[in-house]
Amino acid sequence: KRHLISAADLTRDDAVLILDTAEEMARVADRPIKKLPTLRGRTVVNLFFEDSTRTRISFEAAAKRLSADVINFSAKGSSVSKGESLKDTALTLEAMGADAVVIRHHDSGAPHRLATSGWIGGSVVNAGDGTHEHPTQALLDAFTMRRRLVGVDAGLGHDLAGRRITIVGDILHSRVARSNVHLLHTLGAEVTLVAPPTLVPIGVERWPCEVSYDLDAVLAKSDAVMMLRVQRERMNAAFFPTEREYARRYGLNGDRMARMPEHAIVMHPGPMNRGMEITAEVADSPRCTAVEQVANGVSIRMAVLYLLLGGNEPAVTAGNGTST
Ligand code: CP
Repeated sequence: KRHLISAADLTRDDAVLILDTAEEMARVADRPIKKLPTLRGRTVVNLFFEDSTRTRISFEAAAKRLSADVINFSAKGSSVSKGESLKDTALTLEAMGADAVVIRHHDSGAPHRLATSGWIGGSVVNAGDGTHEHPTQALLDAFTMRRRLVGVDAGLGHDLAGRRITIVGDILHSRVARSNVHLLHTLGAEVTLVAPPTLVPIGVERWPCEVSYDLDAVLAKSDAVMMLRVQRERMNAAFFPTEREYARRYGLNGDRMARMPEHAIVMHPGPMNRGMEITAEVADSPRCTAVEQVANGVSIRMAVLYLLLGGNEPAVTAGNGTST
């Protein structure tokens, strides 16, 4: 494949290849020299039309660990604020010789447009588009679940089949939820979405998952509980329950976490609204993988860039990481 636009496009084999390659990349971080020369001479452009902390920084770290040249482009402070179009921005990047463009955009479908327009010749990676998809987030979430729940390091197997994953919160506006539902289904997990009725998307009955409105009813049978941020910036105030009411019905606190199975983990893609969907007690507990997810994001993004741009070269060889 040349682009990564949607988790829904990934076959099980594609997803397992990315997850296994990310395991190899994670091992590089334990070496004395953490850098690989695999993408030397290639250029990765981070094209961010929307704010980001984790995704932007980890794509930059991933590209640099693979020795690619990195150009960071933020719409704020660029000629986009003077009205320049996506097309003219893309043509400018093409003139600079971008081999891959990592794009975050407020419009659902912008990465697909970039990949199919012919404006650029390189690979396009979706780093989150509107309320549509965030495929590398779902991949890093699956990577985290595999490590924590399946014991990939202990040689217990790689499969998420039959694992029960509960995703809680603002499903309506969540590209993370949509990508996770598709990818987890592809990997054989059973997904339940929990949300207030006003924050469930129309057509969710066609998604490959269950829907519940009762968090307490599903906690005891969850292997992982993924809490989502309420995206107030994307919603009409009329849809929004009060913070106290939301936290009471859909927030994860210490009492609720205690009702989860002992092995179960709490996940959050970030950024978190502490006190809203998750209490500080839960966010800071060892059962919460939010920080681990960020670290795993670098390995996943290294794997994605490597597979799109350097797939004919061996990713990692034995030794100290100085050659491929
Ligand atoms: N999880 C995530 O996409 O975070 P950022 O918005 O900080 O990139």
